[in-house]
Amino acid sequence: MSDTSVDAEFDLPQVYKHHVFACHTQRPPGHPRGSCGASGAQPLWDRMSKALEAQRLTDIGFTASGCLGFCSVGPLMVVYPEGVWYRPTAPEDIDEIVESHFKHGKRVDRLVMVLTRR
Ligand code: FES
Repeated sequence: MSDTSVDAEFDLPQVYKHHVFACHTQRPPGHPRGSCGASGAQPLWDRMSKALEAQRLTDIGFTASGCLGFCSVGPLMVVYPEGVWYRPTAPEDIDEIVESHFKHGKRVDRLVMVLTRR
């Protein structure tokens, strides 16, 4: 019989140092749920993608995601394995996340969103 329980001594290798999921959902203007796209996400994600490439941060995964479930407070991105949710709104916010969090492991508290599920 195989044991499928989680074994604390069985460490899986990490593919990335940090893995970012950035919401790329775009709903039409006036949609009742809103969307990260309607809140200006795309130029921010483009900036992050270009920064990661330009600085050769190949240990940072950057994945375009669908809706992350908190549409009214976007643009949203989440960073794993820490589970930190950020709401950047300006290009400088992206630069700070890259420099502080990704390059130096220091969370950017002023951009953190504390979200809870009901
Ligand atoms: S549209 Fe981005 S969290 Fe739902």
